[in-house]
Amino acid sequence: MRVLINDAGEPPSESAEMGRSPSGAAESARPMTATAQDYLPFHRPSIEDEDIAAVRRALESGWLTHGPVCREFEATFAAHVGASRAMALSSGTAALHLALVALDVGDGDEVITTPMTFCSCAQVIEQVGAIPVFADIEPVTMQIDPAEIERVLGPRTKAIIAVDYGGHPCQIEKILKVAADRGIAVIEDAAHSLGAAVGDRRVGSIADVTTFSFYATKNITTGEGGMLTTEDGRLADRVVRLRLHGIDRDAWRRYRNSRSWHYDVAEPGFKANLTDFQAALGLSQLRREPATRARRSAIATHYTEALAPLGELVERPTVATGMRSAWHLYPLRLAGAARLCRDRLIDDLDQLGIGTGVHFMPLHMTSHFRQRFGFRGGEFPITEDSYSRLLSLPLYAAMSDTDVTRVATAVTDLVTRHAS
Ligand SMILES: Cc1ncc(COP(=O)(O)O)c(C=O)c1O
Repeated sequence: MRVLINDAGEPPSESAEMGRSPSGAAESARPMTATAQDYLPFHRPSIEDEDIAAVRRALESGWLTHGPVCREFEATFAAHVGASRAMALSSGTAALHLALVALDVGDGDEVITTPMTFCSCAQVIEQVGAIPVFADIEPVTMQIDPAEIERVLGPRTKAIIAVDYGGHPCQIEKILKVAADRGIAVIEDAAHSLGAAVGDRRVGSIADVTTFSFYATKNITTGEGGMLTTEDGRLADRVVRLRLHGIDRDAWRRYRNSRSWHYDVAEPGFKANLTDFQAALGLSQLRREPATRARRSAIATHYTEALAPLGELVERPTVATGMRSAWHLYPLRLAGAARLCRDRLIDDLDQLGIGTGVHFMPLHMTSHFRQRFGFRGGEFPITEDSYSRLLSLPLYAAMSDTDVTRVATAVTDLVTRHAS
């Protein structure tokens, strides 16, 4: 049985990195047996010939690390999401981390986020010396609840990491209003939501800072990678400096003609840049993002229609009026007489050759956050209730209609059987 806790689609024991293998693809974790070829993994990346050609060109150019292709990726990405600045980084986690550092979040500050997210959201808060404070989620959308944010806000709140769970935007405009009234910065974690929108505003151009992930399972991938977008030029310049050892490139440029060896280290920075061959993959994937998103959306609609006969035995994800989802996940919650059969359903689907995921193991229920911050369970009832009956169905552009029907039929049969 494979109960999955992150987007990797792999068992936690597979790797020291919380269930991630170097490839990040679910099928890579599965031994090649006679039945393995029939296995429908939770995720399979779409790597086309044009992607491979683009990476090959970048490799053949002789420039391997951050260079002209990264700059082109940044400019194209910024235009794609309607942002004025975009900085390519080594991961979504690095983007969150550098956002906090650039916002001067540090010792003793509090940062609010959701417990229904990947662990890196809270780890970066801890890594800058701040304290993660969780706000429970909304019962219907599973997005961080603005009313809960208001409830846990305090004098030490310095920032909010508002996660777009599953690819659907959180109530970012409401959250920005709550924060603006108190001078608090808002980072929108759009690891799942590239291509999503709120009205005519694209995710990436709405919050003070937006962070994206290009991890292997994300809607576009560079293997590992991330992007940070912002309208704040000073913050953008700081991120550029922080991602490469704190080296001040202006000082470098000033002297470069007369003294090519000269550069200044302005602060303790990080090594968080992207390579040009990863950017080449990202650029190539970005060109297909609208088409990929349309396919993901069609698969989600197919699931929703095919699962309709289950009625109140399941809660299916929906899209709020005026919002556009990037459909990173299809999180299904079991309900009514079926609510207690999640683990058995995952097992049975696995036996039928269908991989699933659980997004997420709530952060306050993991040992580190319990021991370090004293969470006991019961504090975030909506998150805990959702988690207990939640599973993510396979959803990726490479799925055929037959694959989607196969999953929906298996889920319908099993849930009906388990509930009776
Ligand atoms: C909601 C969320 N935020 C942040 C991240 C971190 O992104 P990365 O894996 O690129 O560091 C992830 C990755 O799974 C995620 O799901």
